[in-house]
Amino acid sequence: MNIERRVVAITGAGNGIGAALAREAANRGAAAIAVIDLDLDAARRVANEVSAAGTPAQSYQCDVADSDALDEVAGRVVSDFDAPALVRANAGVGSEVKPLLAESPANLKWILSVNVVGAWATLSAFGRRMIAAEEPGWLLVTASEHSLGVPFPGNGFYTMSKHAVLALADVMRHELPPHVGISALLPGLVATAFSRSTTRRPAEFGGPGAENETARALLAQGMDPAIVARAAFDGVHAEEFLIATHAHARRYWQQRCTDIDQAFTVLAEGEIGSVSYDVMEIAARLAAPGSQ
Ligand SMILES: NC(=O)c1ccc[n+]([C@@H]2O[C@H](COP(=O)([O-])OP(=O)(O)OC[C@H]3O[C@@H](n4cnc5c(N)ncnc54)[C@H](O)[C@@H]3O)[C@@H](O)[C@H]2O)c1
Repeated sequence: MNIERRVVAITGAGNGIGAALAREAANRGAAAIAVIDLDLDAARRVANEVSAAGTPAQSYQCDVADSDALDEVAGRVVSDFDAPALVRANAGVGSEVKPLLAESPANLKWILSVNVVGAWATLSAFGRRMIAAEEPGWLLVTASEHSLGVPFPGNGFYTMSKHAVLALADVMRHELPPHVGISALLPGLVATAFSRSTTRRPAEFGGPGAENETARALLAQGMDPAIVARAAFDGVHAEEFLIATHAHARRYWQQRCTDIDQAFTVLAEGEIGSVSYDVMEIAARLAAPGSQ
C-alpha cells in the first residue's frame, strides 16, 4: 500500500509513537495528515511542525472512546482533505502497576474504553468512509507485544486490552472488502511519555493517578519512536498483517504456542479429541443452500 500523495489520519498523534507516525507519513510523501488527539495543544504542535516542513496537516481534538465524537471528526477530515487512504488507530493508555486482584472496575472500564472501544470506533468511523470512497486503503491499529502474551505482572488490564485489539484486527481483516487492508503493530518498550497516561484519567474512571516511576524508568530504556514509525510504514507498504518491531517478543509468542500445542496434544490423546465442532465449518454447512 503506497501512501504517497494520499491522506493519512492518526489518533494519539500528539505525542510518542503517534507523533512519530505523523512525521514519517510526511517523510513518505503523504498529501495531508490529520493529527487527532485528546490533547489539542499537543496535536497542534505536531500539525504545525509537519505543516512547517511542507506537508499540509490539521489538528483535531477528540476522545477516541467517544464514538459519536470520532464519527464527527472523521467526517470533518474527509471534508477538509479527502477520505484517508491510511488510518492509524494508535491512541492508547496504560495505568498504575497493580496486581489484578487489587484493581478496580472503574480502571478496567477506562482502559477498555480508550484502548478497545477507541480502536474499534476509529477503524469503524474511518473504515466505513474508506470503503465508500472506493479507493485502495489501509487501516493500522497499534497493538503491542502484550497482544502476544507478555505476562508482565501488574499490567493485567493493559494486557487484556491489547489482546482484544489484536482480536479486533484479526476478525476485521476477514470482513473488509478486497480494496481495504489492515495491519496490527506489535511494539515492545518504546521511549515515550506513556507512563503519564494515568495523570489524565477522567474523574468518572477514578480520577488522575501519579506517574509510575518504575514504568517511566522502563520506558526510558525503550526503542526510539522514529524507528517504530519506520517499521510501521514499511510493514504497511509490504501489506503485512502483523508488524513486529522488537525481536525479543517472539519468545513470549513461542511460549503461548507451546502452551496451546500442549493442550491439543492432551486433547488428541482423550476420547473427545476426534469430534469436530468447528464453528467456521458448521456455519458454512448451515449457510449452504438446502441445509435447513
Ligand atoms: N510506549 C510503549 O512502550 C508502547 C509499547 C507498545 C504499544 N504502545 C501503544 O502505542 C500507542 C501510543 O502510545 P505512546 O507510547 O506513544 O504513548 P503517549 O502517551 O506518548 O501517546 C499517546 C497519545 O494518545 C493520546 N490519548 C490518550 N488517550 C486518548 C483518548 N482517549 N483519545 C484520544 N487521544 C488519546 C495522548 O494524549 C497522547 O498524545 C498506545 O496505543 C500504546 O498502548 C506503546
